[in-house]
Amino acid sequence: MPLSRRPTLTQYLIEQRRRFPQASGELNALILDVSIACKAIAQQVALGSLVNLPVAGATNVQGEVQKPLDVVSNEMLLRQNEWSGHLAGMASEEMDEPYPIPSQYPRGKYLLVFDPLDGSSNIDVNVSVGSIFSILRTPDEVVKSGRDVTEADFMQPGSTQVAAGYAIYGPATMLVLTVGYGVAGFTLDPALGEFKLTHPDMQVSQDTNEFAINSSNSRFWEPPVKRYVDECLAGSNGPRGKDFNMRWIASMVAEAHRILMRGGVFLYPRDNKDLARNGRLRLLYEASPVGMIMEQAGGRCSTGRQAILGVVPTALHQRIGLIFGSKNEVERIENYHRDPAKRDAPNPLFVERGLFRD
Ligand code: AHG
Ligand code: MN
Ligand code: MN
Repeated sequence: MPLSRRPTLTQYLIEQRRRFPQASGELNALILDVSIACKAIAQQVALGSLVNLPVAGATNVQGEVQKPLDVVSNEMLLRQNEWSGHLAGMASEEMDEPYPIPSQYPRGKYLLVFDPLDGSSNIDVNVSVGSIFSILRTPDEVVKSGRDVTEADFMQPGSTQVAAGYAIYGPATMLVLTVGYGVAGFTLDPALGEFKLTHPDMQVSQDTNEFAINSSNSRFWEPPVKRYVDECLAGSNGPRGKDFNMRWIASMVAEAHRILMRGGVFLYPRDNKDLARNGRLRLLYEASPVGMIMEQAGGRCSTGRQAILGVVPTALHQRIGLIFGSKNEVERIENYHRDPAKRDAPNPLFVERGLFRD
């Protein structure tokens, strides 16, 4: 299809809204504001080392070094979304506490949660990074009272998300979005400054022979994960009877995008490396949105023990074991977690209800 005839993101959203004649258009307006912030972030990312100067000593609530672009991206999302009246509050990887919409602006019926720059350890080496976001409803009581949002207002399982998406800043900038009716991918036309619909119905293939895991953590893995990876590595000589390929970008958004495009399975499982944390990736702004996108594209997203979308959060920056991608592969890994015969003798401290596990 010629580029000029491809629908824009705005057209796509208007067509989606026609399913609900009573809809106010606020969700569409919110998503468009998020997309504008993503375009601005894309411009900054494209400047590379011209703007990414080191800031000494800056860390976020999770003790991670904040790069200038982490902070800039966070600001862009805040400023582009705080004024519109569609939101009651926001929460971000880069902010310790929830951000209530300042009192000079109207407050609205949605909450926006985001990781403004995912994979930011890749910025210095010019590898793809992204922004990932989740849109939740503001609890009724908050809408009625108009009070400031608190952490508790964000403790909603991923199944309640209204929309989720990510922008990937790669050779091309893309926005991938679900509003609950499949997954659509848009490519930024830099000349027009518009996202154009290029991938109308993204589907994750059911099967794959490609997996992604940081194997430097293998000595900390739990038995089901170790079994799965060992079987992949054994290839055509092993129980799977086929060879597997492996990829690790260290940018979850980029891995999710690859999996949407050509299948695969991604694992950042909980492990025994650091007993104080239950996995590496964050539930509210990494696992939940990727979970909605994967499930809407016919894939699966799990902790290994339960669907990510069913997990009720207990803290804003909660971490969680995350496994997603091609459905049959994720289900296989879930089966390995259920299969007691194949588990090594568990250390009682580390089992599901152990001292260090919730
Ligand atoms: P962030 O840059 O937002 O902190 O997230 C990085 C995450 C994720 O994108 C990636 O999959 C993972 O960290 C990489 O972890 P390792 O450094 O352990 O490979
Ligand atoms: Mn991240
Ligand atoms: Mn980040």
